[in-house]
Amino acid sequence: MSLAALAPSLLVASQRIAERLTADRRHLHQHPELGFQEFETSRFVQRRLAELGIPFRVPIATTGVAAVIEGTAPGPGRTVLLRADMDALPIQEESDLPYRSTVAGVMHACGHDAHTAILLGAAEVLLGERRRFSGSVKLAFQPCEERFPGGALAMIEEGVLENPRVDAAFGLHCTPQLETGTLGYRAGPVSAASDRFTIRIRGKGGHAARPNSCVDAVVVAAQTVVMLQTLISRETSPIQPAVVTVGAIHAGDAHNVIPAEAEIRGTVRTYDVALRATLGQRVREVAEGVARTMRAEAEVLYTMGYPPLVNDPSMTRLARDSGIEVVGSDNVVEGEQALGGEDMAYFMQRVPGCFFRLGTGNRARGITFGNHHARFNVDDAALPIGVAAMCATALRFLARAEAA
Ligand code: NI
Repeated sequence: MSLAALAPSLLVASQRIAERLTADRRHLHQHPELGFQEFETSRFVQRRLAELGIPFRVPIATTGVAAVIEGTAPGPGRTVLLRADMDALPIQEESDLPYRSTVAGVMHACGHDAHTAILLGAAEVLLGERRRFSGSVKLAFQPCEERFPGGALAMIEEGVLENPRVDAAFGLHCTPQLETGTLGYRAGPVSAASDRFTIRIRGKGGHAARPNSCVDAVVVAAQTVVMLQTLISRETSPIQPAVVTVGAIHAGDAHNVIPAEAEIRGTVRTYDVALRATLGQRVREVAEGVARTMRAEAEVLYTMGYPPLVNDPSMTRLARDSGIEVVGSDNVVEGEQALGGEDMAYFMQRVPGCFFRLGTGNRARGITFGNHHARFNVDDAALPIGVAAMCATALRFLARAEAA
């Protein structure tokens, strides 16, 4: 069977398991777990893999699961890795869905429940297609994507890219901005380096009516926040994507007291390596400089987070071609370039690959809320499409490896 003829059959096979995909996704949605605490989710994945008879490795990265499906077609083959993240977010779900989260303050608001269900579905479909490929498909069920340092690096350090050695990696992300039936691909950077800073300002506290005998940490903090904004507006090229956001300011707790201390927390997002380093240095200089000018002191804690996720051009072409076979060229769009962070970046630093977007929105059904929203939801009709796209991409990569 030619590759072009294979994709529709993969879609049929994926549609055949649509009911279970939905049931799995909803079960996971009802039982969300935070990063590195995905013990029940991990057990669920292991149970499913065991039922299918797919060998897997645990523990890896605390709650991760690494499985391998070996092709039975003759010939040497390469290894392709498919990845799904499994963790939820510390968000109180506000939907009234029958399958809403049963855990107070924890919610699958980024679709990782769907990613996990899709990878389980891909495992089943690929198992049924074993005779069509040589080489192996490795499945990485990854813990903790949402919180630095993340689970991807831990899985890599514990050998997920070895035995057999992985030649390429692919993953997808639910995207409610795209309607179900749509896939998005983009070569180059698709998610940003996400670094974090905490600035502790120390002034001198005292009576609100005697500012002259104090060093007001609130005013120093306010000045610092305004100055930090000029790093983008006045120091960064307008055609260079970058963000500096202050997400928290804490100081004082009374009307009539000047606090001695203030704390500012924020994040810096960049694609460019040099700009990343420059902004890190400038956040420090601005914070320390403003404090010194205002007779205070600033201590800056700067943490480098996930690196930018860069899609390999040739792997993106391969993934896009597979996607076109699944949904048709009219339904394949250019993927968004966003400044979110994504630890799939660590896989892409080591092997070429592509991280693509699965449309999971459905305006007619009111499924429009963005990722990390308390009413985020996934259109379950997108799940088989995700399965077929993952399988088609993996098989195309292995077939190309054979031809090479
Ligand atoms: Ni996510």
